[in-house]
Amino acid sequence: MSMSHTERVVIIDFGSQFSQLIARRVRECGVYAELHPYTISEKTLADLQPKGIILSGSPFSVYAEGAPIPAFDVFAFAEARAIPVLGLCYGLQLIAHTQGGAVDKAAKREFGRAHLRIVGESKLLEGIADESQVWMSHGDSLTAIPQGFEVVATTENAPYCVLQNTKRNIYGMQFHPEVHHSLDGKRMLANFLTHICTCNADWNAGSFMEQAIEDIRAKVGTGGVICALSGGVDSTVAAVLLHKALGKQLHCIHIDNGLMRKDESRTVIELFKQHFSMSIDFVDASDLFLSRLEGISDPEKKRKSIGAAFIEVFENEAKRFNDAQFLAQGTLYPDVIESVSFKGPSVTIKTHHNVGGLPEKMNLRLIEPFRELFKDEVRAVGRLLGIPDWFIERHPFPGPGLAIRVPGKITREKLNILREADEIYLEEIRKAGLYNEIWQAFAVLLPVQSVGVMGDERTYENVCAIRAVTSVDGMTANWYPMPYEVLANISNRIINEVRGINRVVYDISSKPPATIEWE
Ligand code: XMP
Repeated sequence: MSMSHTERVVIIDFGSQFSQLIARRVRECGVYAELHPYTISEKTLADLQPKGIILSGSPFSVYAEGAPIPAFDVFAFAEARAIPVLGLCYGLQLIAHTQGGAVDKAAKREFGRAHLRIVGESKLLEGIADESQVWMSHGDSLTAIPQGFEVVATTENAPYCVLQNTKRNIYGMQFHPEVHHSLDGKRMLANFLTHICTCNADWNAGSFMEQAIEDIRAKVGTGGVICALSGGVDSTVAAVLLHKALGKQLHCIHIDNGLMRKDESRTVIELFKQHFSMSIDFVDASDLFLSRLEGISDPEKKRKSIGAAFIEVFENEAKRFNDAQFLAQGTLYPDVIESVSFKGPSVTIKTHHNVGGLPEKMNLRLIEPFRELFKDEVRAVGRLLGIPDWFIERHPFPGPGLAIRVPGKITREKLNILREADEIYLEEIRKAGLYNEIWQAFAVLLPVQSVGVMGDERTYENVCAIRAVTSVDGMTANWYPMPYEVLANISNRIINEVRGINRVVYDISSKPPATIEWE
């Protein structure tokens, strides 16, 4: 579902590691921004009716063979429609390269901080003090500027740092305003958006929500929507939003696959009942899932078996709502753009959904109200909808649940042991006030036994590994430097209180080369 937007800025992605960040900053400035690969067609761009165009950075040199360059003249396109253009780093170099300036690698490379010297008047730099810290990351530099352009700021190593052509509405910056190290970068982006693109900048979680509700109603009409509630943040916020838009036309199904954390299903059902008076179709399918998993130890086979069982149970349940034409999913913007890449739609599109194949099979149309949002934006919408903070801040939890945290064969007993350890672990992290600093924390029950001694008895029980990572998007992650005292409490409590575990180890692997989950 594509939403209607009154104001939109398009970021043309040339493959910079910061492209998503540009979109986020622009949105923080109150303007809805979308990332599109540089292969975007003139027609698509025209249809998007952007109020401004931002050209991202890139790992390429503009003059290199195979450099990403749009197939049509973006500058002529924008000028003809009076759309302002802002080039960042490679974007600036693209301006120079195509508009009669020059880019060369001979000039000084710059990485890291630099200080801006303002040498001209510019709407872009309104309210920015001289010597403002900016962050550079470029091997190439401009050696000549195109005709009609003027330099409005320099740095020690970049005599052509900020350029503008106010007549043609083209602007460029050598540094990256989108990163935090460019201390006034957000202000500069806001200047571009409000002073140059004349955006109203009134896009926020609230305006998104109102528009989304309208769009959902228009799309669904009097039809029915089914929603698989996993208990995760995204599907929960989606369900509450859809409920607000559609009331009784929404049917929520929560399936307990027997692989949830302790009391997880109960928590989810209670939340919906208490806070939203929404009734949920609760299905305890743990027997079925666990019997299908019996004897399986290969992680991918586990995932497949869980996926297949899910479809089976869901299809069966959904029969009761045979008036439904839509299936709701909490797909997020990073999932959508990741499967496109800056080189355009790729053939190896990942299927991120936990319900892969379901819509086609059941002949349902998809409703994905958050296809255009980042995770923190979904959280903001959730807060507006009245979902309590403790729920909104919850760590991500994988679809296959504890199945991939019990390496080897899965049994009910092992799952129960793991649940107890996991609960204590999270409790201690919350108690220490660390929960929100961590992206994801969980326990893993290893299929390894070790010798211990408790009282005068020799024990021979399982090892529990605990893991905590910091991350922005789960694609890369660092292990979290958990304070020793907290580790000591966790270990003491798990070993003392959980029967079946006599040793606790802390995982100190980052991703890559390890992954976040053990399987
Ligand atoms: P990895 O282990 O790949 O995990 O570093 C990255 C993030 O994805 C989650 N994850 C999954 N989520 N189905 C899911 O819905 C899966 O099969 C799955 N495997 C991993 C993981 O918890 C982490 O947040």
